[in-house]
Amino acid sequence: MSTKVDFFIIGSGIAGLIYALKVAPFGSVCVLSKINMDETATRYAQGGIAAVMYSPDNYKKHIEDTIIAGAGLNNEEIVRIAINESTERINELAEWGTQFDKESTGKYSLAKEGGHSEFRILHHKDNTGNEIQRALSEKVRNHPNITVLENYLAIDLITQHHLGKLVKRKDKDITCFGAYALDKNTGKINTILAKTTMLATGGIGNIYQTTTNPTLSTGDGIAMAYRAKAHINYLEFVQFHPTSLYNPGEKPSFLITEAMRGAGAVLVTKKGVPFMHKYDKRGSLAPRDITARAIDNELKLSGDEFVYLNTLKIDKNEILAHFPTIYAKCLSIGIDITKDMIPVVPAAHYSCGGIVTDKYGQTSIQNLFAAGEVANTGLHGANRLASNSLLESAVFSHRAALKASSTVSNINIETNFPDWNDEGTVLNEEMILITQSKKELQSIMSNYVGIVRSNIRLKRALDRLNIIYKETEDLFDKSIVSEPICELRNMINVAYLVIRLAMRRKESIGLHYNIDYPV
Ligand code: FAD
Ligand code: SIN
Repeated sequence: MSTKVDFFIIGSGIAGLIYALKVAPFGSVCVLSKINMDETATRYAQGGIAAVMYSPDNYKKHIEDTIIAGAGLNNEEIVRIAINESTERINELAEWGTQFDKESTGKYSLAKEGGHSEFRILHHKDNTGNEIQRALSEKVRNHPNITVLENYLAIDLITQHHLGKLVKRKDKDITCFGAYALDKNTGKINTILAKTTMLATGGIGNIYQTTTNPTLSTGDGIAMAYRAKAHINYLEFVQFHPTSLYNPGEKPSFLITEAMRGAGAVLVTKKGVPFMHKYDKRGSLAPRDITARAIDNELKLSGDEFVYLNTLKIDKNEILAHFPTIYAKCLSIGIDITKDMIPVVPAAHYSCGGIVTDKYGQTSIQNLFAAGEVANTGLHGANRLASNSLLESAVFSHRAALKASSTVSNINIETNFPDWNDEGTVLNEEMILITQSKKELQSIMSNYVGIVRSNIRLKRALDRLNIIYKETEDLFDKSIVSEPICELRNMINVAYLVIRLAMRRKESIGLHYNIDYPV
């Protein structure tokens, strides 16, 4: 079975949906969503979206904060573009129905998070992502040119490789013609042929044991692009959020927004002693790399399983008004955050690297775009500044839409591709082969490729991963395609890239901290 479309989008989070709305006037649009349209990492975003709105803030300050957090490994042109276009993108999100909180004066209420020198985080209480997703999904559902296929899993991008040609990463003419996708309801594989393809598949958090990311964040887009021979970079920079709720067994880990520290909450040891000033003069509002490493160090020194976030200095009314979701969540497990401190630990949260794109979201493969967390635009450098991710998604999905809509009329849909070949495959009846390998992968990444790394740990990680890689490729070749085997294969591909890029970087910088290269 095959489908033909002008604009094909894999992913229904902020990046995929903004792009969909912007290209829809120029042709037919098909959006794929692995679960349902609203189940995305976007939906879980709490703190908000960073943008320059009013004085005393200005573009220069936000640009500087972004580059300081990124340890100077940012692409300065991209940083300037993202921040100079931030106000425009916020106004558009608001016009499209997102309700950002306002002061009684009518101005937007702005919060502060780690690494920001000004109050510039627009938010909707402590569930900003859910509000953005709601507004975008509503517009997409009502758009006549957009079809959303839910419960569909993209498996692999289609390139000349599928016509039997040898494709090498250094080739300049690799072209994307769409993707093979599994209809999870029927088990059938659809060949989706497209003039342009957008990868907006989000993050990679599930390659680790503990993550704030929803289960869908398995790095599918990066793995598919890598297999199609796109350029990938900066994946060694995995951001661990300092404060996820310590609640053993809960997946994903529940986030305690950094905005709480912006509102006055302080990190303290289990004995109640503040410690962040030992690591950075900005204390509990230091950037995430420093804060997560400080917590990791305190836990190693004390042998404790968590530190506390002391929220008791925040006024009770402010907690109830600004952090209702966190208040309710903590209360549900017996913690009243107006009276008790919150036990927290770092958790894998965000991938700063990904598929290399230019300032219009174009990847190294022709007619293939990428935007959102899956992309490596160069905005974040070695560490992302809090709340710059939603901003990056909004700015570069917009720019990619400009590019794709201006080129689509010059592209013909190629139709001579074979359907997915599942000859000789059988149903894998031993799920344990997949679940056990996934656990091993997550344990390897958490123990050897986490917040603090070393050369020997990275080498060991690669050796162990190679075993799982070979077993999984073998299983994939023999099995009828299913979501669990595809996700496992993708997570292994992405973990491999994280390790290889971490091994290649002979320094400690930003989120990549290797004890063999002390700072
Ligand atoms: P997502 O929103 O993750 O969407 C990915 C989409 O791709 C989904 O629709 C999924 O179904 C689809 N998909 C994936 N693989 C496939 C496949 N193989 N086939 C078909 N579909 C597929 N950032 C901020 O800037 N501010 C914040 O306050 C903030 N808070 C956060 C809080 C939490 C708990 C988390 C997890 C992240 C937070 N972030 C925040 C980061 C930010 O939310 C994400 O980086 C951003 O939402 C990513 O958007 P996206 O559109 O790239 O991907
Ligand atoms: C948070 O609310 O702390 C998360 C913000 C982000 O990931 O940018």
